[in-house]
Amino acid sequence: MRRFIVIGHRAITSADFKLDDLCGSTGRLDILLRCVNSAFFLSHGIRRDVEITLMLLGEPNPPKTIRINGSEVKYLNPDERSTAALIRNALLQKGEGERKCSPGIFVSERSYEEVLSNISKESKVYYLKEEGEDIRKVPLGQDVTFVLGDDQDLTAVEEEILMRYEPKKLSLGPMSYHADHCVTVVNNELDRR
Ligand SMILES: C[S@@+](CC[C@H](N)C(=O)[O-])C[C@H]1O[C@@H](n2cnc3c(N)ncnc32)[C@H](O)[C@@H]1O
Repeated sequence: MRRFIVIGHRAITSADFKLDDLCGSTGRLDILLRCVNSAFFLSHGIRRDVEITLMLLGEPNPPKTIRINGSEVKYLNPDERSTAALIRNALLQKGEGERKCSPGIFVSERSYEEVLSNISKESKVYYLKEEGEDIRKVPLGQDVTFVLGDDQDLTAVEEEILMRYEPKKLSLGPMSYHADHCVTVVNNELDRR
């Protein structure tokens, strides 16, 4: 399994947003939507061996944690608007614990710490960081998790929590890339191995 955890530092945590203003009023949810696209879409198919967890940490009800599992997901299309509609639907779901909102899409109030704690039981965690070790030189196992920021790097606190899992820092190259491009590069790197 390939897993991605993307930290949406200001991403909106209510369903109160318009699908035609995703860049403006959603705390840059648009970045997370593009990460979903990069995580799953092939030219003619969906990657079934990928899971992405979006940490929505903006106002008014943080955290909201959206998990999308490629082996189960349905109704996912490549455009940001329709993915935003699925996430808006997830944000409307009331209840406790992790709830299934539509096939392969789950919502919870799990903290970033809980998410990491759960994932690290079965997956090796890596931290995507510009000044890390070159990913091309690092052997990677079958179940791997990559943590990255949105348009902002991880905060000192987020980094401190992540470091408890002793992740190797991996660099994808000498430039600082958009989060969704990082997901694409990681998928490509793993495809080529
Ligand atoms: C758009 S970047 C965040 C802001 C960026 N660090 C800057 O200074 O403009 C989003 C995230 O992608 C990851 N990232 C970007 N470029 C990377 C690279 N070359 N290698 C590894 N991770 C990278 C990091 O996790 C980063 O937090």
